[in-house]
Amino acid sequence: MLLDRARTRMSQRRLLHVLGTAHIMAVLAELHRLDRDASVLAALIHDQSKELTPEKIEHELAHMGEPVTDIDRDHPRIWHGLHAACWAKHELGVKDDAVLEAAALHSTTDAGVRPLTRALYVADICEPGRQFKAAEELLDVARRDLNEGYRQCLMYKTRFVIEKQKAELHPRSVRALREWLTADELHEFGLEPNGKTEILTT
Ligand SMILES: [Fe+2]
Ligand SMILES: [Fe+2]
Repeated sequence: MLLDRARTRMSQRRLLHVLGTAHIMAVLAELHRLDRDASVLAALIHDQSKELTPEKIEHELAHMGEPVTDIDRDHPRIWHGLHAACWAKHELGVKDDAVLEAAALHSTTDAGVRPLTRALYVADICEPGRQFKAAEELLDVARRDLNEGYRQCLMYKTRFVIEKQKAELHPRSVRALREWLTADELHEFGLEPNGKTEILTT
């Protein structure tokens, strides 16, 4: 059902990305003893809502009883994960909190997330369809050490958000950075471990 729906709701390019992400999740699950079915399911769900407009996402989230809240208000780019998780819970009956968390937070992550969420964050960045050189290197690190791979993906994506998207970091991403990065690494992003410094956006 999930794949049938994906075929009608996603471009072929996005479907290939989702399948590539699912493949990497299966690999990481095997290497790092995560639940394989939950890992693949989270990947198949994560971008199901990516091609919906922010207006439609906002409307449907409210309709499903989980409206956009203040922390996400200024970050419509990441709403598709929240919607996908909400949709999976309400429409597919997915009850596994680890799967729902991974799908909901795949763009931002957060402090204190489960290993499955860290794995999906990595897989989303490193799946074979990604056309940038660092993807393979980051995946190699994650194959050996999921936490170190996740840390490096956090830094890679943060640079992308700041330098390429010229966007403000999501507060959940900032929390994750503070959890996993050293003081020197945080400094690159204008962040202090105690959270006093404002985030650089350019
Ligand atoms: Fe996404
Ligand atoms: Fe994705």
